[in-house]
Amino acid sequence: LWLMAAMAFMGYALGNVPFGLILTNLAGAGDLRKIGSGNIGATNVLRTGRKDLAAATLALDAAKGFLAVLIAWVMTPPDFAANITAVTALAVVVGHCFPIFLGFKGGKGVATGLGAMLALSPITGLLGCAAWLGVAKLTRISSAGALAAFVVMPVVMLGLYGFSFHTSPKPMAALLIGLLVLARHHANITRLLNGTEPRVARKPK
Ligand code: G3P
Repeated sequence: LWLMAAMAFMGYALGNVPFGLILTNLAGAGDLRKIGSGNIGATNVLRTGRKDLAAATLALDAAKGFLAVLIAWVMTPPDFAANITAVTALAVVVGHCFPIFLGFKGGKGVATGLGAMLALSPITGLLGCAAWLGVAKLTRISSAGALAAFVVMPVVMLGLYGFSFHTSPKPMAALLIGLLVLARHHANITRLLNGTEPRVARKPK
């Protein structure tokens, strides 16, 4: 149990690192909190006009999700690996969404969640990425892609591992992460329903 607590803490701590804020601050690309949705994620970094920084934010936020689960997997004896990696995956997304260092005002967990899922179940993660990219490209709405991905992934996990928590904790982790990401998108969902959710510019200025 202490190992699970330690890995959950490690995941939460890694999740706290807000790469979007760090990169835009370092590059002097403006204050993310005052741009677009005010979110710290890659989508909002793109609204600064810096595609390179947005791509780096996406990659690094995803990498921290992946890394947290990987570290947990390496540190844990095989018998406990499934439970502890599942808890760590949830912890890193919680860390990104509710970072103590930002007064619990973090991101929406899309990149970090995708990274964590890729580590937890590569097939699920890849299908999630495909859903995200596919829907985002079709609609040019980043949040629509994100919502699709985080509905698809729990379903895929349930298909792969079944409903029983005794077989695998992964579907439960995917479900909780999915619910968290959906909850973090409540403002986006309202805008989507109103038809006011902004589209990603074809050619950012
Ligand atoms: O990654 C978050 C994305 O789904 C929505 O971001 O900035 O449009 O609220 P944003």
